[in-house]
Order: sequence, then C-alpha cells, then structure tokens
Amino acid sequence: MAIPNIKLSSGHDMPQVGFGLWKVDKAVAADVVYNAIKAGYRLFDGACDYGNEVECGQGVARAIKEGRVKREELFIVSKLWNTFHDGERVEPIVKKQLADWGLEYFDLYLIHFPVALEYVDPSVRYPPGWHYDGNSEIRPSKASIQETWTAMEGLVNAGLSKSIGVSNFQAQLIYDLLRYAKIPPATLQIEHHPYLVQQELLNLCKKEGIAVTAYSSFGPASFLEFNMDHAVKLTPLMEHDTVKAVADKYDKAPSQVLLRWATQRGLAVIPKSSRQETMVSNLHCTDFDLSEEDIKTITSLNQGIRFNQPSNYFPTEMLWIFG
Ligand SMILES: NC(=O)c1ccc[n+]([C@@H]2O[C@H](COP(=O)([O-])OP(=O)(O)OC[C@H]3O[C@@H](n4cnc5c(N)ncnc54)[C@H](OP(=O)(O)O)[C@@H]3O)[C@@H](O)[C@H]2O)c1
Repeated sequence: MAIPNIKLSSGHDMPQVGFGLWKVDKAVAADVVYNAIKAGYRLFDGACDYGNEVECGQGVARAIKEGRVKREELFIVSKLWNTFHDGERVEPIVKKQLADWGLEYFDLYLIHFPVALEYVDPSVRYPPGWHYDGNSEIRPSKASIQETWTAMEGLVNAGLSKSIGVSNFQAQLIYDLLRYAKIPPATLQIEHHPYLVQQELLNLCKKEGIAVTAYSSFGPASFLEFNMDHAVKLTPLMEHDTVKAVADKYDKAPSQVLLRWATQRGLAVIPKSSRQETMVSNLHCTDFDLSEEDIKTITSLNQGIRFNQPSNYFPTEMLWIFG
C-alpha cells in the first residue's frame, strides 16, 4: 500500500506513517526493524537515547542485503541527545550514530529535547541518559539552542543529514530559533494524542512551514510500564467510548482511528509495536477518512495532559522544560 508523503521545507519527502523505536529491546530490535520493512514501513524513528541504534541498523542492513529495499527508499530519523549540545560535540556524535546504524547519512536529525547537559564521553557511558553520574545528578551545560542549531546546520552542509529539526520544543523557542536559523527546522516532533492536542503549537508550525510528527499517539498506553499515576488512572484511549464508537462506525480498530485522527490533522505518526499483526494494522491507517465532525469529537477529548516529561520519570527541581 502507498503511504502518503509530507513535503518538507528542505525539499525532501517524509512518509506520513513510520515506525517508532523507543523501548524496542536490543535483543529483538534487528528482527523488529527487518519485519517492519517487510510489512512496508519505510520511516524509522530512532535516537541515541533509545540504546538500540546498532541493532536497528542490523535490521536495515539485512533488508537491504536481501534486496527488499534500497537505502534511498528508507527514511531514517535519529536524534541528538542532551549531553551533546555543545557545538563541537554535535558532528562527532552524529558520525558515531551513523556508524552504529551502518549508514552514511540520516534523512532527518532532530534535537531531542531543548535541554543542554554537560558532556559525558561515550567511553564512560552510552547512551548517557539524563544524569551526569548515571544516577541522580543533573549537570547543565551552557550551550544555547543557537549554538546547537548552528552545529545542526553544519550536518546538512557536510552531507550527514538531509534534513534537520527539533523535538519537544514549544512556541517561544521556535519563534526564537526562526530568527537566526539559516536552515529552518523541517520538522517538530511532539507528544500528541487526544488528551494533548496542542492546537496553538500546530497553528504556529503550519504558518511557518514546519511539518509536525506526533509521538505517543496512543497516549497513556506507552507510559503504563513506568507506572505513571495519571497514565494508569486515565481511561486508555483505545478503550474510550468516543474512540470506540468512531472505530465501530468505520469498521476500524480504535488504534487506527487514533492514528487517522492525527494524520487528518496534518501530522505524521510513528507508532511503535513489537507485534507483527499490530505493526501491520498501524501502517494501514490512511486508507479511510474520518468526517470533520468525528475529528472534532475526538479533538474535544483534550485535557492538556502530558506524559513524556522528565519530572514524570524521576524527582527533579531542574528540568521544568514544559513549564
Ligand atoms: N521525541 C521524543 O521525545 C519522543 C518521546 C516518545 C516517543 N517518541 C517516538 O515516538 C514513537 C511512538 O511513541 P511511543 O512508543 O511512546 O508510543 P505509541 O506508539 O503511542 O504506543 C506504543 C504502545 O502501544 C502499544 N501498541 C501499539 N500499537 C498498538 C495497537 N494497534 N493496539 C494496541 N496496542 C498497541 C505498544 O505495545 P506493543 O509494542 O506490545 O505492541 C506500546 O505499548 C516512539 O517509539 C519513539 O520513536 C519520541
């Protein structure tokens, strides 16, 4: 089946449905990626922080070697971790990440979070995570987003990434970035689901020509394993009466309705699933259309509830990045 593309401001096409690699266990990541390519996925959303780039690259290499896909048909995304924001750290870590994947370039490389932390050498710990000592200490770095973005622009000029973008940024910082960017961010990746619809941020991106990718499209589902209070207490979106009623109407799975709601709002989606049948049904989420009224009904479930923020994972007084 043909997956629609989104035209990025960089001139490149990005598939509107891709595959998320967060929490894909190293032990199975190569097979998961290989099977996802077999199922028809072409975009893979990785990151240094996911700790599985070597294995994901092995899955890609196997698919290419068997002639199932060519490199240029894939769209590989990776992200700059917080400890590599200092300008001189950006290119070396991207080269390491490319070597881990076994690739010569990324299609898209994102600043993972607008948070600069002190450098941790990969020989000390990789991926470094949030804490300087690997345990509890948060050590900021002085790198500004301008310094980091200038180094990100260098990646495009050096042919290491075709497009560059940001993740977990909000409006104020995007306005600022646009003032000095020589290459504007092609995409913004954000948490987006019916409990967190972020309409104003989407309006800004539309106006500025920044494509938006939704992560955690199933809302609480991805955060249950962390025992986050509000994730556990909320009605799971796939079991929500409103979502189920819409799904019944179109004879689709609630998961497909959640993905279609996002893609009809203009976003790209990158659902993660380790199960083959689920992976396939998630990919097949653009071959039907919800009515405007059904889209509005789902949008009205908004509660402004965010799951993916540092303070939900560990106690900290230093990382109120969505405040
Ligand atoms: N930029 C960022 O800061 C950031 C943050 C979070 C995520 N992301 C990216 O976005 C991707 C997607 O987000 P996510 O992994 O948080 O969550 P997600 O895709 O919304 O949800 C994944 C969870 O839903 C389950 N699931 C998937 N499809 C399903 C279906 N059709 N029916 C029932 N259950 C289903 C999966 O279980 P099974 O695996 O068992 O199927 C998994 O527990 C990530 O993998 C990552 O690439 C980026």
